[in-house]
Order: sequence, then structure tokens, then C-alpha cells
Amino acid sequence: MAVRINPSILTADFANLEHELSRIATADLVHVDVMDNHFVPNLTFGQRMVESLQRVTPLPLDVHLMIDDPDRWAPGYAQAGAYSVTFHAEAATDAVALARTLRDIGARAGIAVKPGTAIEPYLELLPEFDQVLVMTVEPGFGGQSFIESTMPKLGLLRDAVSASGLDIWLQVDGGITEETIAIAADAGADTFVAGSSVYNQGEPASQIALLRAAAQAHSHSG
Ligand code: DX5
Ligand code: ZN
Repeated sequence: MAVRINPSILTADFANLEHELSRIATADLVHVDVMDNHFVPNLTFGQRMVESLQRVTPLPLDVHLMIDDPDRWAPGYAQAGAYSVTFHAEAATDAVALARTLRDIGARAGIAVKPGTAIEPYLELLPEFDQVLVMTVEPGFGGQSFIESTMPKLGLLRDAVSASGLDIWLQVDGGITEETIAIAADAGADTFVAGSSVYNQGEPASQIALLRAAAQAHSHSG
């Protein structure tokens, strides 16, 4: 199973993002955290920033929308060129219709759940999505501790994805380190977001290599 390492630029230097992107050239995708001060108590950037970021990196953008009313706003991020657009289940009015719209525009469609949100209601909807994001911290800020009690959701998802035979990526986001990435990979994740452990622990390229090796060592085979 392929392992993907998606650094989050939330912890990068916002005044030097072109340089910060150049430091993660060995990543698989760039995780872009869009926050609106409503769905989460923090504010980052919007669609124009996504367009600007895409102009200065060849890496695909993995946009994580922590915003209210994604039904209205998410399609704009797909039109802006995002490779994947992930919205929160808790915020969407019609998750299936929105995912279909995102796919029609040409993006991979992702659905995210907060740590306290059950995954069972979404298992039968899996064919509508290309990615499921299991939040391993409360969304809003980088640098928080991994919540291990979220891991059973990955087991349920991994079983359902294997049974479906579909190419659905299972992503974790929040508190991912060399230690916790092994736990998440064991639980069934294949796509790993890491912010502070990539940008705050020395050279980002070395950190990406360490995370990738740890994830591969614990990845489900087949
Ligand atoms: C948190 C964001 C994360 C954040 C992760 O709400 O969705 O993507 O950047 O940061 P770390 O890896 O520091 O927990
Ligand atoms: Zn994120």
C-alpha cells in the first residue's frame, strides 16, 4: 500500500511560503488548512491563496476546509486547482451532493470527521468519496497531542475500503510524529498530515524521510 506524507503549511512561515514549499519538495502533497473563524476559532487563508500557492509549487494541493457552509464554498477550491478538497461532515448540509460536485470539477473529494464524530453513518457512502480524513486532534491549531481513541475509526474504514476494492485514501491529521505515525499506520491510515513535526523539528526533508520510513514499516501490506 502506498504511503503519502502531506506536510501542513499551517506551522510554516506565512511570510515566506514559496521558500517553505521549496523545503518540502520530497512530500507527496501539500496540506493546506483553510479556517474561517467560525467552524474553528482560527483564521488562515482562502481561495486566492490556494491559487497563489499552486503557482509556486509543482506538488498537488490537499485542501482541508475547516469552514462553515462548505456546500457553498468548497467548489471554488476545486476550481482554483486543488488536487483534493476535503470538507467536514459536521459542517456540510448535503455531503454526497457536494462530493459529486467536487468530482465533476475534477478534484478528489474528501470528507473529514472531528475526533468526537462517529464514522459509522458514512461507511455506506464511501464510494462517493476519494478520501476520508480522521482528525486526530480537535481541528483549529497545530502542535496539539495525538488523540489515540480515534484509531478504531480507521479500523472500520480500512475494512470497509478493502471490502469495496476502491482507491479511497485514509488520512490522519493532528499530532503526527515519528511515534504516532506508526500507531496510525498500524490502525489502517495511508495518508499522513504533519505540521509541527515537519517544520519545527529541524530540516523538513529529513523529517519527511523519517516519517515516511516509520509509516512504511507499519503500513498494511496488500
Ligand atoms: C489542525 C490542522 C492540521 C495541523 C496539524 O486543525 O488541520 O493540519 O496543521 O498540525 P500538527 O501536525 O502540528 O498537529
Ligand atoms: Zn488539516
